Amino acid sequence: MNINETLFKYGQEHLLAFYDELSDSEKEALINDISSIDFERMQNIYDHRENHMAEDSEVSCAPYIDKEKLIGELQKKYEQLGNELISEGKLAVCSMAGGQGTRLGHTGPKGTFVVALDTPKSIFEILMDKLKEAYQKYGVYLHWYIMTSEANDCDTQNFFVKNNYFDYPKEYIHFFKQGELPLMNFEGKMLLENKGKVFKAADGNGGIFEALEKNNILEDMKEKNIQYLSIGNVDNILIRQIDALLLGMMAEGKYELASKSIVKKSPEEPVGVFCKINDRPSVIEYIDLDPEKAKMRDDNEELFFGEAFFGNTFMKRTLLEKIATAKLPIHTAKKKNSYLGENGEMVVASEPNTYKFEAFIFDAFKMADDMLILRTKREEEFAPIKNKEGADSPETARKLYMDYYAKH
Ligand code: UD1
Repeated sequence: MNINETLFKYGQEHLLAFYDELSDSEKEALINDISSIDFERMQNIYDHRENHMAEDSEVSCAPYIDKEKLIGELQKKYEQLGNELISEGKLAVCSMAGGQGTRLGHTGPKGTFVVALDTPKSIFEILMDKLKEAYQKYGVYLHWYIMTSEANDCDTQNFFVKNNYFDYPKEYIHFFKQGELPLMNFEGKMLLENKGKVFKAADGNGGIFEALEKNNILEDMKEKNIQYLSIGNVDNILIRQIDALLLGMMAEGKYELASKSIVKKSPEEPVGVFCKINDRPSVIEYIDLDPEKAKMRDDNEELFFGEAFFGNTFMKRTLLEKIATAKLPIHTAKKKNSYLGENGEMVVASEPNTYKFEAFIFDAFKMADDMLILRTKREEEFAPIKNKEGADSPETARKLYMDYYAKH
């Protein structure tokens, strides 16, 4: 089927509406852009956009281990095992930094946002401090894989060049780009960003698996004999991705998957919660959790769905290899976007007018047979920067960071 027939079949002919006005190179770029779209899949995603969890899914609590209740000797044993693995270079760190940070109102990549510490530092520099600390402790440089997106890859890489890779050997820092999915209007029409470009956006942090595979990162890890990847949100300045205890527990228990939890503060806190769906490890995202269920409490007065996922997950390379080719479910969000209208005018949105499609990292958890969840202390691990002001803002994160380092 040629491109015109494909566009006609899926009702997307308008993507070529301004084709004749383009230069030869612009025409070629647009054709390549369109050819890279899997129209069948997009149609499917659009058709099933309202589908949430299957009605008959059985949702139950996920078991966890409370770090505070680990007995001294046992804790030491796990830590020792984790320390050995780290010293042997079997762990690498990965930051998911492809998001746009719209809520924060920062124009560059989120990792370039500067936090007003005594010595102001960008988020990337704060994360880098942990790798340098690990070098001091273990005498090895750990590899750092940074996931970027089409929208911020150049700016991210330039930022590292400008900062001389924060004096870390640059052969240990690797950038890889996640994929994109087209946006659609509410009638299922794809959109143009300009006359020669289809409007696309990053495919969500669940795009990480496909991106690790497509960019040969899994192969690179294999060559380097890296067995574990600690994957984290870029926007948490207290994240502890190099965690010997969790790594040791994982290795000892032969888990392919481990993640940390904190106690959810209130039913309304916008965090995903660990659970089991049909007995498989899962997380329900905050927007998908029924508000009544979110309020449910157990006999100890703790929230029934109270173990919050905060975006620090350890995965064995072998599990990543298994997930790489799986197609994760796609979630739909309504967003405000300006795009090129039918007559070549910019359509400026005053309210949500487009669908954005995203995969979520934790939808892959069900592919592991079992999952280790370690409950950690919020004040030691979680200082997120999400919003410009108020909760989870640079100000709250700065305070949490300063308080933590005043004690440690
Ligand atoms: C995320 C979690 C939520 C958790 C919370 C803790 C998901 C889907 N949701 O919510 O359950 O409780 O963090 O702070 O993970 N990212 C990319 N590419 C993308 C989209 C996001 O790299 O296409 C990265 C972001 O840069 C960020 C992380 O993924 O590091 C999570 O970002 P976001 O999608 O904004 O999720 P939250 O709503 O913060």
